[in-house]
Amino acid sequence: MAEKADVLQVIDFPPFTNERLEKLFTVHKSFQAEDPDAFIAGVAERIRGIAVTPPATARRELIERLPNLEIIAAFAVGVDVIDLGCAGERGVIVTNTPDVLTDCVADLGMGLIVAICRGIVEGDRYTRAGRWVAEGDMHLTTALGGQTLGIVGLGRIGKAVAKRAEAFGMKIAYHGRNKQAEVDYPYHPDIAALARAADCLVLCCPGGEATRHMVDGDVLSALGPEGFLVNIARGSVVDEAALVEACRAGTIAGAALDVFENEPHVPEALFELENVIVQPHQASATVATRTAMGDLMIDNLVRHFTGEPVLTPVG
Ligand code: 8YV
Repeated sequence: MAEKADVLQVIDFPPFTNERLEKLFTVHKSFQAEDPDAFIAGVAERIRGIAVTPPATARRELIERLPNLEIIAAFAVGVDVIDLGCAGERGVIVTNTPDVLTDCVADLGMGLIVAICRGIVEGDRYTRAGRWVAEGDMHLTTALGGQTLGIVGLGRIGKAVAKRAEAFGMKIAYHGRNKQAEVDYPYHPDIAALARAADCLVLCCPGGEATRHMVDGDVLSALGPEGFLVNIARGSVVDEAALVEACRAGTIAGAALDVFENEPHVPEALFELENVIVQPHQASATVATRTAMGDLMIDNLVRHFTGEPVLTPVG
Protein backbone atom coordinates (compact mmCIF):
# COMPACT_ATOMS: atom_id res chain seq x y z
CA MET A 1 0.00 0.00 0.00
CA ALA A 2 1.57 3.27 -1.12
CA GLU A 3 -0.19 5.43 1.45
CA LYS A 4 -1.74 4.21 4.67
CA ALA A 5 -5.51 4.26 4.44
CA ASP A 6 -7.47 5.94 7.26
CA VAL A 7 -9.52 3.48 9.31
CA LEU A 8 -12.00 4.33 12.05
CA GLN A 9 -11.76 1.88 14.97
CA VAL A 10 -14.95 2.09 17.02
CA ILE A 11 -14.09 -0.46 19.72
CA ASP A 12 -10.96 -1.96 21.27
CA PHE A 13 -9.47 -5.22 19.96
CA PRO A 14 -6.92 -7.56 21.56
CA PRO A 15 -3.40 -6.04 21.65
CA PHE A 16 -2.07 -8.25 18.84
CA THR A 17 -4.86 -7.06 16.53
CA ASN A 18 -4.49 -3.39 17.54
CA GLU A 19 -0.77 -3.60 16.86
CA ARG A 20 -1.10 -5.02 13.36
CA LEU A 21 -3.93 -2.62 12.51
CA GLU A 22 -1.82 0.35 13.60
CA LYS A 23 1.18 -0.87 11.61
CA LEU A 24 -0.76 -1.05 8.36
CA PHE A 25 -3.26 1.81 8.62
CA THR A 26 -3.72 5.27 10.06
CA VAL A 27 -6.09 4.28 12.83
CA HIS A 28 -8.56 6.72 14.39
CA LYS A 29 -9.85 5.34 17.70
CA SER A 30 -13.21 6.97 18.35
CA PHE A 31 -13.84 4.72 21.36
CA GLN A 32 -10.96 6.39 23.20
CA ALA A 33 -12.16 9.93 22.52
CA GLU A 34 -13.81 11.93 25.27
CA ASP A 35 -16.44 13.05 22.77
CA PRO A 36 -16.64 10.34 20.06
CA ASP A 37 -19.14 12.40 18.02
CA ALA A 38 -16.86 15.42 17.80
CA PHE A 39 -13.89 13.13 17.14
CA ILE A 40 -15.65 11.48 14.21
CA ALA A 41 -16.72 14.86 12.81
CA GLY A 42 -13.05 15.89 12.80
CA VAL A 43 -11.83 12.90 10.78
CA ALA A 44 -14.97 11.99 8.78
CA GLU A 45 -13.67 13.14 5.37
CA ARG A 46 -10.55 10.98 5.64
CA ILE A 47 -12.13 7.72 6.78
CA ARG A 48 -12.12 4.96 4.13
CA GLY A 49 -12.69 1.96 6.40
CA ILE A 50 -14.39 1.04 9.69
CA ALA A 51 -13.21 -1.76 12.01
CA VAL A 52 -16.03 -2.92 14.28
CA THR A 53 -17.23 -5.74 16.48
CA PRO A 54 -20.20 -6.21 18.87
CA PRO A 55 -21.39 -4.57 21.02
CA ALA A 56 -20.18 -1.52 19.00
CA THR A 57 -22.18 -0.78 15.86
CA ALA A 58 -21.90 0.68 12.37
CA ARG A 59 -25.45 1.92 11.81
CA ARG A 60 -26.81 4.38 9.25
CA GLU A 61 -26.08 7.39 11.51
CA LEU A 62 -22.38 6.57 11.37
CA ILE A 63 -22.13 5.34 7.77
CA GLU A 64 -23.82 8.47 6.41
CA ARG A 65 -21.35 10.73 8.21
CA LEU A 66 -18.40 9.24 6.30
CA PRO A 67 -18.52 10.42 2.65
CA ASN A 68 -15.43 8.47 1.56
CA LEU A 69 -16.20 5.19 3.31
CA GLU A 70 -15.40 2.11 1.18
CA ILE A 71 -15.35 -0.87 3.56
CA ILE A 72 -16.67 -2.00 6.94
CA ALA A 73 -14.63 -4.90 8.32
CA ALA A 74 -16.12 -6.84 11.23
CA PHE A 75 -14.09 -8.73 13.82
CA ALA A 76 -17.03 -11.17 14.06
CA VAL A 77 -19.02 -13.62 12.00
CA GLY A 78 -22.33 -12.00 13.03
CA VAL A 79 -22.97 -8.69 11.27
CA ASP A 80 -26.21 -7.65 12.94
CA VAL A 81 -24.37 -4.62 14.38
CA ILE A 82 -23.85 -3.29 10.83
CA ASP A 83 -26.57 -1.65 8.73
CA LEU A 84 -26.16 -3.85 5.66
CA GLY A 85 -28.95 -2.05 3.79
CA CYS A 86 -27.28 1.32 4.18
CA ALA A 87 -23.85 -0.13 3.29
CA GLY A 88 -25.37 -1.68 0.16
CA GLU A 89 -27.05 1.58 -0.91
CA ARG A 90 -23.74 3.38 -0.64
CA GLY A 91 -21.65 0.67 -2.30
CA VAL A 92 -19.71 0.03 0.90
CA ILE A 93 -18.19 -3.47 1.13
CA VAL A 94 -18.82 -5.44 4.34
CA THR A 95 -16.60 -8.30 5.52
CA ASN A 96 -16.80 -10.69 8.48
CA THR A 97 -14.75 -13.54 10.00
CA PRO A 98 -16.47 -16.86 9.28
CA ASP A 99 -14.86 -20.32 9.64
CA VAL A 100 -11.92 -19.27 11.84
CA LEU A 101 -14.17 -19.18 14.91
CA THR A 102 -16.48 -22.11 14.17
CA ASP A 103 -14.74 -24.73 16.32
CA CYS A 104 -14.23 -22.53 19.38
CA VAL A 105 -17.82 -21.28 19.30
CA ALA A 106 -19.10 -24.84 18.94
CA ASP A 107 -16.81 -25.97 21.78
CA LEU A 108 -18.31 -23.41 24.14
CA GLY A 109 -21.81 -24.33 22.94
CA MET A 110 -21.17 -27.99 23.68
CA GLY A 111 -19.54 -27.07 26.98
CA LEU A 112 -22.65 -25.14 28.00
CA ILE A 113 -24.92 -28.02 26.96
CA VAL A 114 -22.93 -30.43 29.14
CA ALA A 115 -22.63 -27.90 31.98
CA ILE A 116 -26.32 -27.03 32.18
CA CYS A 117 -27.59 -30.62 31.78
CA ARG A 118 -25.11 -32.00 34.32
CA GLY A 119 -25.27 -29.11 36.79
CA ILE A 120 -21.51 -28.52 36.63
CA VAL A 121 -21.53 -24.85 37.63
CA GLU A 122 -24.18 -25.45 40.26
CA GLY A 123 -22.11 -28.38 41.60
CA ASP A 124 -19.08 -26.12 41.87
CA ARG A 125 -21.08 -23.59 43.90
CA TYR A 126 -22.57 -26.38 46.01
CA THR A 127 -19.16 -27.81 46.87
CA ARG A 128 -17.49 -24.45 47.58
CA ALA A 129 -20.37 -23.42 49.86
CA GLY A 130 -19.79 -26.52 52.00
CA ARG A 131 -23.24 -27.86 51.17
CA TRP A 132 -21.91 -31.32 50.22
CA VAL A 133 -20.72 -31.72 53.82
CA ALA A 134 -23.72 -30.03 55.41
CA GLU A 135 -26.53 -31.38 53.24
CA GLY A 136 -25.12 -34.44 51.48
CA ASP A 137 -25.24 -35.19 47.76
CA MET A 138 -26.52 -32.59 45.31
CA HIS A 139 -29.68 -33.35 43.30
CA LEU A 140 -29.40 -35.70 40.32
CA THR A 141 -28.84 -34.21 36.87
CA THR A 142 -29.82 -34.93 33.26
CA ALA A 143 -27.98 -37.50 31.10
CA LEU A 144 -27.03 -36.38 27.60
CA GLY A 145 -27.03 -39.76 25.83
CA GLY A 146 -30.29 -40.47 24.04
CA GLN A 147 -31.59 -36.90 24.50
CA THR A 148 -32.61 -34.80 21.51
CA LEU A 149 -30.68 -31.63 20.82
CA GLY A 150 -32.75 -29.13 18.84
CA ILE A 151 -30.48 -26.84 16.84
CA VAL A 152 -31.87 -23.49 15.71
CA GLY A 153 -29.73 -22.42 12.75
CA LEU A 154 -27.87 -25.34 11.18
CA GLY A 155 -25.11 -23.29 9.57
CA ARG A 156 -21.38 -23.77 10.03
CA ILE A 157 -21.57 -23.38 13.83
CA GLY A 158 -24.80 -25.37 14.18
CA LYS A 159 -23.27 -28.27 12.24
CA ALA A 160 -20.11 -28.16 14.37
CA VAL A 161 -22.28 -28.34 17.52
CA ALA A 162 -24.21 -31.27 16.00
CA LYS A 163 -20.97 -33.18 15.39
CA ARG A 164 -19.91 -32.70 19.01
CA ALA A 165 -23.36 -33.59 20.41
CA GLU A 166 -23.44 -36.81 18.37
CA ALA A 167 -20.19 -37.83 20.04
CA PHE A 168 -22.09 -37.50 23.36
CA GLY A 169 -24.81 -39.83 22.05
CA MET A 170 -27.39 -37.08 21.47
CA LYS A 171 -29.94 -37.17 18.66
CA ILE A 172 -30.14 -34.08 16.46
CA ALA A 173 -33.13 -32.19 15.02
CA TYR A 174 -33.11 -28.66 13.61
CA HIS A 175 -35.01 -25.56 12.59
CA GLY A 176 -33.88 -22.95 10.08
CA ARG A 177 -35.17 -20.98 7.13
CA ASN A 178 -34.93 -24.04 4.87
CA LYS A 179 -34.65 -27.80 5.01
CA GLN A 180 -31.13 -28.82 4.01
CA ALA A 181 -30.79 -31.53 1.40
CA GLU A 182 -27.34 -32.62 2.56
CA VAL A 183 -28.29 -33.57 6.15
CA ASP A 184 -30.48 -36.40 7.44
CA TYR A 185 -31.50 -34.79 10.72
CA PRO A 186 -35.25 -34.24 11.21
CA TYR A 187 -36.25 -30.72 10.10
CA HIS A 188 -38.95 -28.68 11.87
CA PRO A 189 -40.22 -25.70 9.86
CA ASP A 190 -41.87 -24.50 13.07
CA ILE A 191 -39.51 -23.55 15.93
CA ALA A 192 -42.12 -24.37 18.61
CA ALA A 193 -42.42 -27.89 17.16
CA LEU A 194 -38.64 -28.27 17.40
CA ALA A 195 -38.72 -27.01 21.00
CA ARG A 196 -41.44 -29.58 21.78
CA ALA A 197 -39.35 -32.39 20.27
CA ALA A 198 -36.11 -31.27 21.97
CA ASP A 199 -34.70 -31.93 25.44
CA CYS A 200 -32.21 -29.13 24.90
CA LEU A 201 -32.55 -26.27 22.41
CA VAL A 202 -29.33 -24.59 21.25
CA LEU A 203 -29.44 -21.30 19.34
CA CYS A 204 -26.84 -20.93 16.58
CA CYS A 205 -28.69 -18.65 14.15
CA PRO A 206 -27.83 -15.08 13.09
CA GLY A 207 -29.18 -12.11 15.04
CA GLY A 208 -30.98 -9.14 13.52
CA GLU A 209 -34.60 -8.30 12.74
CA ALA A 210 -35.40 -11.63 11.02
CA THR A 211 -34.78 -13.64 14.20
CA ARG A 212 -35.71 -11.06 16.84
CA HIS A 213 -37.54 -12.68 19.79
CA MET A 214 -37.99 -15.88 17.78
CA VAL A 215 -37.70 -17.70 21.10
CA ASP A 216 -40.65 -16.23 23.00
CA GLY A 217 -42.82 -17.42 25.87
CA ASP A 218 -44.66 -19.90 23.62
CA VAL A 219 -41.44 -21.53 22.40
CA LEU A 220 -40.19 -21.76 26.00
CA SER A 221 -43.46 -23.39 27.07
CA ALA A 222 -43.05 -25.85 24.21
CA LEU A 223 -39.52 -26.67 25.45
CA GLY A 224 -41.13 -27.51 28.76
CA PRO A 225 -40.13 -28.03 32.41
CA GLU A 226 -37.53 -30.68 31.56
CA GLY A 227 -35.99 -28.73 28.67
CA PHE A 228 -32.86 -26.58 28.65
CA LEU A 229 -32.06 -23.55 26.49
CA VAL A 230 -28.50 -22.75 25.37
CA ASN A 231 -27.81 -19.49 23.54
CA ILE A 232 -24.53 -18.92 21.67
CA ALA A 233 -26.18 -16.83 18.93
CA ARG A 234 -27.39 -13.35 19.86
CA GLY A 235 -29.36 -12.12 22.87
CA SER A 236 -31.90 -10.55 20.51
CA VAL A 237 -33.08 -14.01 19.38
CA VAL A 238 -34.68 -14.55 22.80
CA ASP A 239 -37.37 -12.55 24.57
CA GLU A 240 -35.20 -12.05 27.65
CA ALA A 241 -38.04 -11.06 29.98
CA ALA A 242 -39.93 -14.24 29.04
CA LEU A 243 -36.75 -16.28 29.56
CA VAL A 244 -36.11 -14.86 33.02
CA GLU A 245 -39.70 -15.67 33.97
CA ALA A 246 -39.50 -19.20 32.47
CA CYS A 247 -36.30 -19.99 34.41
CA ARG A 248 -37.71 -18.49 37.60
CA ALA A 249 -41.05 -20.27 37.37
CA GLY A 250 -39.61 -23.59 36.17
CA THR A 251 -41.47 -23.45 32.84
CA ILE A 252 -38.12 -24.66 31.48
CA ALA A 253 -35.47 -26.61 33.39
CA GLY A 254 -32.73 -24.02 32.93
CA ALA A 255 -30.64 -21.96 30.55
CA ALA A 256 -26.98 -21.44 29.67
CA LEU A 257 -26.37 -18.09 28.03
CA ASP A 258 -23.30 -16.60 26.37
CA VAL A 259 -25.18 -13.67 24.83
CA PHE A 260 -27.69 -11.07 26.03
CA GLU A 261 -29.98 -8.42 24.62
CA ASN A 262 -28.09 -5.45 26.07
CA GLU A 263 -24.47 -6.53 26.51
CA PRO A 264 -22.57 -6.23 28.74
CA HIS A 265 -25.67 -5.84 30.91
CA VAL A 266 -27.31 -9.06 32.09
CA PRO A 267 -30.72 -9.10 33.80
CA GLU A 268 -29.87 -9.23 37.49
CA ALA A 269 -32.78 -11.58 38.14
CA LEU A 270 -30.72 -14.31 36.41
CA PHE A 271 -27.90 -14.05 38.96
CA GLU A 272 -30.05 -15.52 41.71
CA LEU A 273 -31.19 -18.55 39.75
CA GLU A 274 -29.37 -21.86 40.35
CA ASN A 275 -30.65 -23.24 37.03
CA VAL A 276 -28.94 -20.55 34.92
CA ILE A 277 -25.36 -20.30 33.67
CA VAL A 278 -24.17 -16.94 32.37
CA GLN A 279 -21.02 -16.20 30.36
CA PRO A 280 -19.60 -12.84 29.23
CA HIS A 281 -19.92 -13.50 25.44
CA GLN A 282 -16.93 -15.82 25.42
CA ALA A 283 -17.63 -18.29 22.62
CA SER A 284 -14.88 -17.10 20.28
CA ALA A 285 -12.65 -15.87 23.09
CA THR A 286 -9.52 -18.00 22.80
CA VAL A 287 -6.09 -16.64 21.94
CA ALA A 288 -5.90 -18.73 18.77
CA THR A 289 -9.37 -17.81 17.50
CA ARG A 290 -9.21 -14.11 18.36
CA THR A 291 -5.79 -13.94 16.66
CA ALA A 292 -7.21 -15.56 13.54
CA MET A 293 -10.28 -13.28 13.59
CA GLY A 294 -8.10 -10.17 13.88
CA ASP A 295 -5.84 -11.34 11.07
CA LEU A 296 -8.78 -12.10 8.80
CA MET A 297 -10.38 -8.72 9.47
CA ILE A 298 -7.09 -6.98 8.69
CA ASP A 299 -6.37 -9.16 5.64
CA ASN A 300 -9.75 -8.08 4.24
CA LEU A 301 -8.83 -4.41 4.75
CA VAL A 302 -5.38 -4.90 3.22
CA ARG A 303 -6.78 -6.67 0.18
CA HIS A 304 -9.40 -4.02 -0.37
CA PHE A 305 -6.93 -1.15 -0.14
CA THR A 306 -4.48 -2.88 -2.49
CA GLY A 307 -7.18 -3.38 -5.09
CA GLU A 308 -7.68 -7.11 -4.56
CA PRO A 309 -11.00 -8.81 -3.83
CA VAL A 310 -11.70 -9.20 -0.11
CA LEU A 311 -11.52 -12.74 1.32
CA THR A 312 -14.82 -12.97 3.18
CA PRO A 313 -17.42 -10.54 1.86
CA VAL A 314 -20.90 -10.51 3.41
CA GLY A 315 -23.75 -10.86 0.94
C1 8YV B 1 -17.63 -11.36 18.79
C2 8YV B 1 -19.33 -12.78 17.84
O1 8YV B 1 -17.15 -10.90 17.60
O2 8YV B 1 -18.36 -13.50 15.83
C3 8YV B 1 -19.36 -13.08 16.39
O3 8YV B 1 -20.42 -12.86 15.78
O4 8YV B 1 -20.31 -12.51 18.43
C4 8YV B 1 -18.06 -12.79 18.60
O5 8YV B 1 -17.08 -13.58 18.07
C5 8YV B 1 -16.63 -11.20 19.83
O6 8YV B 1 -17.30 -11.31 21.02
C6 8YV B 1 -15.90 -9.91 19.79
O7 8YV B 1 -16.78 -8.85 19.98
